[in-house]
Amino acid sequence: MLKELKQIVVDAEKAFAEAADERAVEDARVAFLGRKGRLTLATGGMKTLDPSDRPAAGKALNEAKKKLAALLEEAKKRVAESGAKAKSAGIDVTLPGRQRRLGAKHPVTAMIDDCVAIFRRLGFIVAEGPELESVFNNFDALNTPSDHPSRDPRDTFYLADGRLLRTQTSPVQIRVMMSQKPPVRIVAPGRCFRRDTPDATHSMNFHQIEGLYVDRDVSLADLKSVLEAFAREMFGEKAAIRMRPHFFPFTEPSVECDFTCVMCAGKGCSICKNSGWLEIAGAGMVDPAVLEAVGYDPEEWTGFAFGMGIERLAMIKHGVSDIRYFYENDIRFLRQFR
Ligand code: PHE
Repeated sequence: MLKELKQIVVDAEKAFAEAADERAVEDARVAFLGRKGRLTLATGGMKTLDPSDRPAAGKALNEAKKKLAALLEEAKKRVAESGAKAKSAGIDVTLPGRQRRLGAKHPVTAMIDDCVAIFRRLGFIVAEGPELESVFNNFDALNTPSDHPSRDPRDTFYLADGRLLRTQTSPVQIRVMMSQKPPVRIVAPGRCFRRDTPDATHSMNFHQIEGLYVDRDVSLADLKSVLEAFAREMFGEKAAIRMRPHFFPFTEPSVECDFTCVMCAGKGCSICKNSGWLEIAGAGMVDPAVLEAVGYDPEEWTGFAFGMGIERLAMIKHGVSDIRYFYENDIRFLRQFR
């Protein structure tokens, strides 16, 4: 009996050591520890022993059982580990990871967001209007004479139904004033369309941000202080502005507003054509005819309005020399604005 147990242990050691996968381990378990396994059968043999031999045999049997149980556990563990290794064999965990590039806002979107953030701090809220506009909102209500050149179909995209693609964000002024009573303090960023021949500074579709402030006793000085605050926030403390007389149908007086050239800090360079100034905004005091068109009493209310080109601001801010870069979606260009 003792001899037989020893042999079982020796054989089991070999069988479990040789078992290479889960199935082989299970087969070995059945062969030795199963209901008809060799150790189980040997246990049955106890009955036939002489009672005096039984204590020693029982002890040996228990030891053999323990040993086999340990062999089984060891074999299971070994097989499980080598399986996991094989599964991960296709992945070299020491290789550097694959880079995932982060996207970023388009520079035009980023500039709109920057402008809006500045004007919000100055007390303006954002208003919006559609890109498809009525002739009334885009021209008539803005006091634009019927023979004004900007109405020409060679300059403006008209639809067959008489509507148009807005040529400016100024019609949002009309929409806001027609829908609410004064005071009004809004900015309206958005896309505009003009039938221009594309070149370094012109595009058939571009973006503007419009500003409108209507209240009692609003003056040109208020306009100046708002544009000055904007210039400083956008281009730095040293940025100054100047206003030159101009003409727009919907403002009176009208001005064109220049900012200190950011390239040369006002000294004069090729970008500002040696003037030290860059043309940035069209602006002025809302024409009484416009206030009347929307039902505001021009005796009670006054206001200022301004409009700026978003792409132009972005070109100046980032030193971009050609507006067309903004629309080509060349990843090498866009990546520089991350
Ligand atoms: N709408 C004008 C333009 O596109 C700009 C402007 C806006 C001028 C508001 C005055 C007041 O050129």
